[in-house]
Amino acid sequence: MTLTFLGIESSCDDSAAAIVRAGDGAALILSSVVAGQSALHADFGGVVPEIAARAHAERLDLCVEQALAEAGVALPDLDGIAVTAGPGLIGGVMAGVMLAKGIAAGTGLPLVGVNHLAGHALTPRLTDGVAFPYLMLLVSGGHCQFLRVDGPDDFTRLGGTIDDAPGEAFDKVAKILGLGQPGGPAVEVEAASGDPSRVPLPRPLLDRPGFDMSFSGLKTAVLRARDAAVAAHGGLRRADRADICAAFQRAVADVLSEKTRRALAAHPVPTLAVAGGVAANATIRAALDAVARAAGVAFVAPPLALCTDNGAMIAWAGIERFRLGHRDGMDLAARPRWPLDRRAAPMLGAGKRGAKA
Ligand code: KG4
Ligand code: ZN
Repeated sequence: MTLTFLGIESSCDDSAAAIVRAGDGAALILSSVVAGQSALHADFGGVVPEIAARAHAERLDLCVEQALAEAGVALPDLDGIAVTAGPGLIGGVMAGVMLAKGIAAGTGLPLVGVNHLAGHALTPRLTDGVAFPYLMLLVSGGHCQFLRVDGPDDFTRLGGTIDDAPGEAFDKVAKILGLGQPGGPAVEVEAASGDPSRVPLPRPLLDRPGFDMSFSGLKTAVLRARDAAVAAHGGLRRADRADICAAFQRAVADVLSEKTRRALAAHPVPTLAVAGGVAANATIRAALDAVARAAGVAFVAPPLALCTDNGAMIAWAGIERFRLGHRDGMDLAARPRWPLDRRAAPMLGAGKRGAKA
């Protein structure tokens, strides 16, 4: 049966809405509107939850209007409304959930609450029709975890970061080196002209078994490397900055690829998929592609616009949940924390980009 869903996303600093149509064959993204908030948070060196929540409340309905117009779809043409109900910055999640409830109440359409991480984790099925089971490496500004995905609602968390998410580390490294935010793309651009082998940086937790990772020590090592360069030359030279960026990016790629190699060895599935903003990084993508090739498994990395936060992944995850028979009522709660794997031990700590789950 063909289903057309509106997806609404507002868990961090992107207000997004999209229309996705799925039949028996490939799913179609009819429209995908993302209104970022980087400029609003630029002066604060991170996402300010109150500013984010207000911006979502102001913009989300416009995103929905635009997504419907671009798709050439009217509300009565929809089969349901999917909305991120967590995990994330609670004010933003509430803005999305309230809007979705309002539209559902006004139209009588079914409402489906979606876990933001499930949105990322199911994206390879939207873009490439990947079959279950597969291994998902989710690497973003707020999250870092290996998931074994056996169904739309069947996730096993194999491991993840014990402190910072890699995107958070990219953002902090950019700040340390005086680059703009978001840090990932800025560090990647600098790294392109740098020598990754000149500044020695650690490869945290590679000496330990298992799939857990750590990125906070790497950030501290970058701080020391910067201070050493400044002390040696009376300031941070362009070449030093580029070399530090290249070394940092290489270290993150090495840690992610070695842990992925081990995860694939322990869980031999046909496909490795990657998602989240950090998956936009070309060096990291290439490293993971090489790991997949060596293990003889397919590698799927969604297009960049579908790696970062967007409404299409929420619409798609909503369709997958709807097909399982899942419906939510007007009591759908906005949740700051919502672990995908209900069996896994809860994560401690909350990053600046929202609760780690
Ligand atoms: O998935 P996402 O859009 O939002 C979250 O749910 O966190 O990820 C944003 C994160 C930011 O920390 C950003 O610096 C990082 O992804 N990022 C990158 C790149 N593009 C975005 N990190 C490394 N290299 C990139 N090219
Ligand atoms: Zn995300």
